Amino acid sequence: MTSSPSRVPLIAGNWKMFKTTGETRDFLATLHTSLSGFPNANQLPQIALFPPFTALSTAMQVVDELGASQQIRIGAQNMESRENGAFTGEVSARMLTDLSVPLILVGHSERRQYYSETDESVNQKTQAALRHNLTPVVCVGETLEQRESGQTDEVIKTQVITAVQGLAPTDFPLIVLAYEPVWAIGTGKVCEADEANRVCALIRQTLNTQANADNTRVLYGGSVKPDNIEELMKKPDIDGALVGGASLDPASFYQLIEKTAQTVHATVPA
Ligand code: PGA
Repeated sequence: MTSSPSRVPLIAGNWKMFKTTGETRDFLATLHTSLSGFPNANQLPQIALFPPFTALSTAMQVVDELGASQQIRIGAQNMESRENGAFTGEVSARMLTDLSVPLILVGHSERRQYYSETDESVNQKTQAALRHNLTPVVCVGETLEQRESGQTDEVIKTQVITAVQGLAPTDFPLIVLAYEPVWAIGTGKVCEADEANRVCALIRQTLNTQANADNTRVLYGGSVKPDNIEELMKKPDIDGALVGGASLDPASFYQLIEKTAQTVHATVPA
């Protein structure tokens, strides 16, 4: 449950390298039908989906056709921080805004692990996103080795401080952070809710050393499923979830949204 009214909960699905254009179309139509059946639309969290590049244009078109572009926001999973140039295989912020895509995932651990992204490149991408009015969802998280050797807090602080270097105080409410412990991603091992909450609070405290981050949303990600979302969303410093596996099926993704709405509204004082 978010403790600031301006931190509207966000449930975001990262599809990684899954789904064709046809599968994207079918998913969005099914999700939209489920959402239309939810009794109090104003209690729903914000919803975001990050399809692969090849399905972005289709996703944007479908949410527009369904009249759902404000309800289901679409984002890209990665981009190059430079404006344009000889960077084979890359996509720039300008190309994403050309599709009217509003969000961009930055520094996911799979990008850091398999494509050599560093804290510095994450910072460059965060700055490029903001220059182009894209909302960056910046991922941070420790590996199992770092956790076991007691380095979690230092790693998180360094990743957060480096990610926001050069940002203006007015950028802070616009960005979203996601705490994704690497050992919890795709492993079925969810981080225990109290610990996830503690690290999300640490992320906000760290941001607050640079500029006011009371309204900055901090999500948790790593093996979030319909059977553990309620426990996570009850925590005051967890403002939503970044979901991989459980976002691929429209029924389980809808359950995450529904349970978030119920949890948040059950815990908000009248
Ligand atoms: P998972 O992935 O939910 O499948 O663990 C989370 C993520 O990578 O963002």
